[in-house]
Amino acid sequence: VLNFEDVKDILIRRLPRRLLNLLRLLGEYGDDVNMPVYVVGGFVRDLLLGIENLDVDIVVEGDGLKFAEYAAKQIGAKMVPYEKFLTASLFFKDGFRIDIATARTEYYEKPAKLPMVDISTIKKDLYRRDFTINAMAIKLNPLAFGILFDFFQSRKDLKEGIIRVLHRLSFVEDPTRIIRAVRFEQRFGFHIEETTQEILTETLEGGYLEKVTGSRIRQEIEKILEEQSSLKAIRRLAELNILKHIFPKTYYTGVMDKKLVNMYNFFQKLGDIYKNYNKFYCVLRVLLEFYDENSLKEVARRYGIPKKFVEETKFSEKIVIPVKEMIHDKMLFSDIYKVLGKPSPETACYISAYLECDDQEYFYEYLKKVYETKLEKVSGEYVMKKYGIKAGPIIGKIMNELFCKKLDDMKIDEIFELERIIKNLRGEDE
Ligand code: CTP
Repeated sequence: VLNFEDVKDILIRRLPRRLLNLLRLLGEYGDDVNMPVYVVGGFVRDLLLGIENLDVDIVVEGDGLKFAEYAAKQIGAKMVPYEKFLTASLFFKDGFRIDIATARTEYYEKPAKLPMVDISTIKKDLYRRDFTINAMAIKLNPLAFGILFDFFQSRKDLKEGIIRVLHRLSFVEDPTRIIRAVRFEQRFGFHIEETTQEILTETLEGGYLEKVTGSRIRQEIEKILEEQSSLKAIRRLAELNILKHIFPKTYYTGVMDKKLVNMYNFFQKLGDIYKNYNKFYCVLRVLLEFYDENSLKEVARRYGIPKKFVEETKFSEKIVIPVKEMIHDKMLFSDIYKVLGKPSPETACYISAYLECDDQEYFYEYLKKVYETKLEKVSGEYVMKKYGIKAGPIIGKIMNELFCKKLDDMKIDEIFELERIIKNLRGEDE
C-alpha cells in the first residue's frame, strides 16, 4: 500500500530556512532536466522524528550525474562525481555538502560483497535499503513538493518504534546490517521486530558476519561507540549473540558488564587528561581481556589492531590487580608510578574498569599529577655536567627518582633533592 502523505508543513516547520530553500531549488532543477528528485533515507526518518539531521541524501530518477552537474552549475557549488557508483557530492563554499545518487537496484554477485549497480526507480531504490524506517523518500519537484513516498509502511514502523527489514535476504546481502539493526534500535529506543530478529539470527548462524571484512565490521562497531546509548548497544549485541560472531572468545558476563560500567563512568573524566583516545581500543581492552595470545593476535589481525595494543593488553592484565589495590589503599603516587608509569589512555581506561567511584577519583588525581608534573630546574644534561656522569641508563634512573620525589611533593627543591640522590648513589657505590 503506497502512502502519499503531504509532509510539506513538517519541512517548513522543522528545517532551517536555508536548507528548505535548497530543497526547493533542487526540485526546480529536477523539473528543468525532467527528472523526479527526492530526499531520502536517514534525513527523512529524522525529520519525521523531529531530530536534527543535516546529512542530505538526494536520489534522482534518471541520470544522477547529469542532474548533479546541472544543479552545481545553477547553484555555484563544486561537484565531485563518483562515476562508478552513479553518485556525486556537491560542496558549497561554506563547507556544507549534499550527496546525490541515481535511483538504483543493486544485485549481489555473492553474499557479503559490495553490490553491482543498475539504474532504476525510487521504489526499487528504497526496497534495497536496510530497514523500513530508512526507506522513505520525500519528493522535491515543485508540483509534488513535500509528498512522502512510503511504500513499505515505514511511517507506521517509525510511529510504533519497530526495526524491520524490507525482505528476507537483507542481512545476507549486507551482514553489517545485523550490527546496524542494534545501533538504530538502541539509538531510538525501538525494538527489532520478531520476524526480523529471526532472520537476523538465521543469518548470524549461517556464518555471514564472518564473511565480511574486518574493517567493515570495525567501522560499524566504531559507529555504535559514537552513540549516546553505546553501552546498551554492546549489551544488546551480546544478548542477540552477535558479539560471539565478532569476538569468538568473548563471554559477556555480569562481571564484564560491571567493568564496562566502570569504564564508561571514567570516560567522562578521560578527556581532561588525554586530548584524544580511541574508544574502540578502550572497550576492546575489556572485551578481549584474558584472550590467549594467539586468539588475541588473530582478532588483532582481522580488525587492524596494532601490535602495540596486544603488548599493552598483556602487560596491563598483569599489573591491574596490584595497581587496583594500591589505588584503593591510597598509596603514594610515586609507588603507583613505579608499577604503572604514565599509562596510555587505553591502559588508564582498562585500570578504571576495575575501580569503584571513590577509587576512580584517586586514580584521576594520580593521572593528572603524572601528566602535569615536570622537572623545572634539573635536566639530564644538567646532571651530567654538574656531577661529571657519562650518558647512560644511570641518568634516567636519577631523573626518575627525582621525578618520583616531586610527584609526592610538588614543593621540593629540585637542586637540593638531586644532591641527596647523588650522595645516596655514591654512598651505595662505595
Ligand atoms: N543503507 C543500507 N544498508 C547499509 C548502509 C546504509 O541500506 N548497510 C542505507 C540506509 O537506507 C541509510 C542510507 O543508506 O538510511 C544512508 O546510510 P548511513 O548514512 O550509514 O545511515 P543513516 O540512516 O543516515 O544513519 P546515521 O543517522 O547513523 O547517519
